[in-house]
Amino acid sequence: MGKNLLDLKSLEVSEIHSILEQAQAFHDGEVFHGLEGRVAANLFFEPSTRTQYSFNMAECKLGLRVISFNPAGSSLQKNESFYDTVKTFDSFGTDLLVIRHVENEYYNQLLGHVNAKILNGGDGTGNHPTQSLLDLLTIRQEFGRFEGLRVAIIGDVSHSRVAHTNFEVMQRLGMEVCTSGPEEYMEEGMHFKPFEEAVRQSDVVMLLRVQHERHAEHMHLTVEQYHDRYGMDRNKLAWLKEGAIIMHPAPFNRGVEIADDVVECDRSRIFKQMNNGVFVRMAAIKRALCD
Ligand code: CP
Repeated sequence: MGKNLLDLKSLEVSEIHSILEQAQAFHDGEVFHGLEGRVAANLFFEPSTRTQYSFNMAECKLGLRVISFNPAGSSLQKNESFYDTVKTFDSFGTDLLVIRHVENEYYNQLLGHVNAKILNGGDGTGNHPTQSLLDLLTIRQEFGRFEGLRVAIIGDVSHSRVAHTNFEVMQRLGMEVCTSGPEEYMEEGMHFKPFEEAVRQSDVVMLLRVQHERHAEHMHLTVEQYHDRYGMDRNKLAWLKEGAIIMHPAPFNRGVEIADDVVECDRSRIFKQMNNGVFVRMAAIKRALCD
């Protein structure tokens, strides 16, 4: 009983819609009793604010008890491995493991070896399923549909698990997705468009942070050059189609991919995305422990 959530590409479209329906119901005030007293361990081996603490919030709202984990104060510092750390929490009898780790598809080494359900809070540059689900919920609330919408994902695409997850699932849901940004961060087969064209043609302009921590080399552009060529500022807002929105998974860098005064402008849905993250994660937890 119950289901892991490791990626979205292995989920049928109908299942994605079903998670979004449940998330919307939680957003609209549905209360669920049935998980009180179950125990979740949030194991974040990479830094996180939104994913980690909105999972925590979602767990609280569903009545779970939560064990949080501090890698810097754990036996990882005594060379305990990732696998042995996760096995330890599983051996405590936790019901749910929410995990983020730098290695792509880290979860493959755990499948068949842990009893708890696993919710993926992000694996390397691979998958970020709950981020994509909250992006989808935000888009559905805005437009009431997916079919036919145009989405531009702009920035450090090649290092972004958000870009990779969204590019796949959004196309499957009938959206037309392109990418844009510095050539060094673009990927083959991800429908590149020049920045201005991408912004002008899209219903959803999704900006990404430059993930310096995943780069082997320094970015070739200065911050000023990046902001000028690929950053969304007040002047470029005029390029947006009527009704188009700006999204960003955050954390965002003000003055780099997004100007300070665009973060909370009327086109921005960035904090709405964060709010929706709680409800999507509630739906993922319910699915993991009840469905
Ligand atoms: N969007 C996102 O994953 O943010 P955090 O890294 O803060 O969790």
